[in-house]
Order: sequence, then structure tokens, then C-alpha cells
Amino acid sequence: MLSTITKPDIRISAVIFLLLRALVPTALSQNALQIPDTLSGTKIDLDLRTDSFSFYPGFYTQTMGVNSAILGPTLFLNKGDLVKFSVKNSLPDTTTLHWHGLHVSSSDDGGPHTIIAPGTTWSPEFRILNRAATYWYHPHLHHKTDKHVSKGISGLLIVRDQFEAKLPLPRSYGSDDFPMVIQTKDFDTNKEILIHSNNDDVVMVNATIEPFLKVGAQVIRCRVLNGSSQRTFNLGLTDNHVMYLIASDGGLLNKPESVTRLMLSPGERAEILIDFSEDKGKKIALLSYASELANGIYGASNPGMGPGMNLTGYKPNVLNGTDFNVLEFKIGAPTANPITQIPNNLINNTRIPESQSDITRNLLLSPRTMGMNQLNGGFLINNQKFSPTRIDYRIPINNTEIWSIRNMSGIAHPFHIHDVQFFILDRNGMSPSSAELGLKDVVLIRPQETVRFITKFEDFADTTVPYMFHCHMLTHEDDGMMEQFIVFDTSQTLSFRKVNANRRPITYPNPVYDSKIFLNSENNTTVKEINLYSVTGEKLTEVGIFSKNTEFVIEIPLGLNGWYFLEVVTESTSSYERVLINN
Ligand code: C2O
Ligand code: CU
Ligand code: CU
Repeated sequence: MLSTITKPDIRISAVIFLLLRALVPTALSQNALQIPDTLSGTKIDLDLRTDSFSFYPGFYTQTMGVNSAILGPTLFLNKGDLVKFSVKNSLPDTTTLHWHGLHVSSSDDGGPHTIIAPGTTWSPEFRILNRAATYWYHPHLHHKTDKHVSKGISGLLIVRDQFEAKLPLPRSYGSDDFPMVIQTKDFDTNKEILIHSNNDDVVMVNATIEPFLKVGAQVIRCRVLNGSSQRTFNLGLTDNHVMYLIASDGGLLNKPESVTRLMLSPGERAEILIDFSEDKGKKIALLSYASELANGIYGASNPGMGPGMNLTGYKPNVLNGTDFNVLEFKIGAPTANPITQIPNNLINNTRIPESQSDITRNLLLSPRTMGMNQLNGGFLINNQKFSPTRIDYRIPINNTEIWSIRNMSGIAHPFHIHDVQFFILDRNGMSPSSAELGLKDVVLIRPQETVRFITKFEDFADTTVPYMFHCHMLTHEDDGMMEQFIVFDTSQTLSFRKVNANRRPITYPNPVYDSKIFLNSENNTTVKEINLYSVTGEKLTEVGIFSKNTEFVIEIPLGLNGWYFLEVVTESTSSYERVLINN
């Protein structure tokens, strides 16, 4: 941004301003935090539109918003309710609207396949199945997600349930329970928002730059979303005032976890309680202690693993690697009926035991081009770029799965999966901290790190509309760091099976349709290994094989057509069968 300013006097004063802001982090908060409107009930009408909004006095910035000039209303939904949405696209551009974190069918999910043409309305209707927590909604059109989000479309979605309702927690919206959509953006000299920029040097909360918030001397609740395109925050309060994490992405924790730092990568949410009971009359700031971020995280001094790994446009930026103000609390008299205590316990989470897993899938995050310049070259999942016509995983409904994701690139990626919430099992083999034991839908995976999580794919099977998984750095996602899966109903596909009483394992159907081969290993045969070979004898490694009771299901990647050899290795024999794959 600075380099495009032409008048030298403005440049100098801007530099002084930025220096002052960095040196005196709590001195310049000057705008009352805006609190988005709310919508609740079982009929939600949203209108996505273009508008203009004044971030800076005297400037009107072109924006996109939902029912307003910027951002969207906070939606309050009750678990169990059947909600009818109407999403009107008044933008001059095609888009989609995704309910990030919600467990809904793939056709209601609002992913890149569920497009809303300009001037049309999308009307999904679904039941709210998620637990009480803070979710969000944002556009998800491939190649356009960053643009539509950066220009302003996103909103919080708060689910309430009976368990949360029983707890003595602050829940008066805008009075002791506050929405906080934290974002960084890059503005040009005309104060227009630049997209796909690595020079995001303006911090805002709920579209308020330099915000302050008047709160009572009591326990308050902050529902924080990192809605930035790329930047990770390392949140903490002045003087290490304690914060209590009560909820992660998809639900409450077992008990409040006291923390002084909370790292939040793009897409992640956290609900925190802060006890200001003893702080009447004080000003306490919420900062991002970015100086403490490790190299290899967007937001640290070095976005890659060392000073030699550069990202074009990343430096200089006053936010990188320095501690900066996010918001200032001004603490006054308590509200009526304040909450004054942090509860000891919240809910009981039952984590899925590892032993229940049906399959482990290994995923690899890697740079498209190796070497020191890799941060500018884009990133891949399993060595592939997104293709909307390729299904990367076919998951049997009710499968419990471990996803083991290895990051072999030089930068941390916030990995997100649709449809499900998961439990983190470990990071490089080490158990997660107690703050990471709750339900999640985004997890930041650092360079050289392998993160394993466990989840179960329940309720929604659909072989036509896929769900996405991707990096939630929107520049990476738009660039193709995304893949897709379908969940299929095994009871349907199993129905066309024949029973065969041969002595060796049998395959059917043959030829293979619908990209699956079923093997039946009854008759006391122990199948040790199954392999698929091309007619020229080349072993195909991309074939996924897993067992389910006595069945073996072989997932054939799309694109395989023609004759192949299927090898079934048992204790004593190895048999080949010629199969015709007709994908
Ligand atoms: Cu928040 Cu696939 O997105
Ligand atoms: Cu999502
Ligand atoms: Cu990424």
C-alpha cells in the first residue's frame, strides 16, 4: 500500500502513523466497535449485494455485504430447528454461500458446485444438527472466494442448544456476548480493497478499524472469528490478563481452559470468556502478539521457514512479526444481572476412540514448485490441483476415519473439511493441548508437521454433489489447494451384490461400474493384500482399499477405463482376476 502512495508528505506521515501505532499499541483506538444486526428463527432471508462503506473518513470503499453494506447479520439458530433460507444474489457476479462448520447435506452446503447466478435466489432448507457454537457463512465460488470474502461477505452463525442454555454464561448479544470478526485487508490509495494481496496491513474487527468496545466490569464472552484471507493471529490481552477458552470451532469444551495466548488461523473460531470484574475504569487491549509467531506462519516476520523464503509483497508490513492492537476494551460499570464467575465445567465431550477408525487416509500438502521461491508458486494436496470434475475420496456413509495430513511445504496451512467436525488426535505424534481437545473444522498445520484427526461421516450421502476440503488461506484455496469427496450409501451399493460360494475371494460386479469393486472374503479366507495393476503390469498406487466387516471395497479413481488386473493375496494363494473398469 505504501509504495503506491505518490505524494512524499503523505508517505512520511503514514509511516509515522504506522510506527506510532506499532510503538504505542493501545493509544489510537478511536472507533466504537460495530455490532452486526441479527436474524433468528426458522426463516432467514439474505440478500448478497454490492454497496459502498466508509472505512476512512471522506472515502467510500466499494464493498459487498449481506443485507447491509459490509459483512452480514449474525444468525441465531436453534439446534433441531428446520430452517428455510432464501439467499438472493444481487451481486453482478455468480457466487455461492457456504455454511462453514454446519453439518448439512452436500447440496445444502453451498460449496463451489451450488452456484447462485446473478439475480437468482437459492433456497436451501435444512435442520440444524450442530451443537451450540459459533459458525460462519461466506461465499465459496472457485477462484472467487477471496474476492467475495475480502470485499465484505461473511457473517457469524450462532447455534444454541439446551446444554449451552443451562450454563451460567454471558449470552446477551452486544451487551455481554460480543461477535468479533477479525480481518486484515489491503487498501489502495483510493481506499479500495485489493484482493489476492500479501500486503494486508489494516486490521479491523466487524469492519471497524481501530475499534474500542465499552464493556462492564464483569465476565464477558467474545465470539472470535478469524475471517482473514491469509493472516494468523496470536491473540492475547495487555499484561497477560487471563482469557478462558470455552468453545472451539464446533462446540463447547469440557471446561474453560485458561490461556494467555490464543492462536487463530483463517476460518477458525473461538469463544472466550474474560473476567473484567476487577478492572473497572481500566483500558485493556486485545492484541495479536505476532512477534511470538514462529517462522512459517503467515503473520510472522518470515512467512516461510527462514529469511530466505520470501512471499512477494509480504514485506514491509507493520503487522508482520510485530505485536499490534486488535481492539481496546474500556471497562465501565457492570450491566444489570452480570455474570461474575467463570464456570468450572461446561459439557461432556466424548472423543471418538482411535480404535473405531475404519481407515486412515494420508494427505500431503506440498508446494507446486520446490525450493526457496516456493511460497509464490501455489500449493497442492496429494500432488494435485483442484479439479471440479474429479472426486478425490469416496467415503462410505458412517465411516469413521483418521485423516493424517502431512505438511511438506514451507508455510503453515489451515486445513478445513466440510460436512464434519473432527477431534485432533495428535501433532507429530504428540497429544494436542487441552485447548485443542474440542470439536474442530479447521486445523493449522505447520511446516514439517503431521496432524491426525478423527471423524465420522454420518447422515448425508450423495454421489452427485461433493463436499470440499481445502486450505482456508483463501489465496491458496482459489489457486487450487482444494479437493473433494463424496459420501456414498453402502446399503444402496451393496444391494446389487451376488452371493458366491467359491473358495477364493470373489470380485463383483465385473465389469466395474460406479468406481468400486466389492470383494467378499467369506469362507474363512483371510485376504492379506489387494492390488490393482494395469495390463502392462504397473501397480496403481492411487487405488484406495479398505475393509468393512467381511467386505473389501476398492475405490477406483475416476479416469481409469478399460482392462486391469486385480490381485488378491491370501494366506496361501495369490490370484489374479481380469476386471473391466467402466468409469
Ligand atoms: Cu470456510 Cu470450504 O470453507
Ligand atoms: Cu466450510
Ligand atoms: Cu494454504
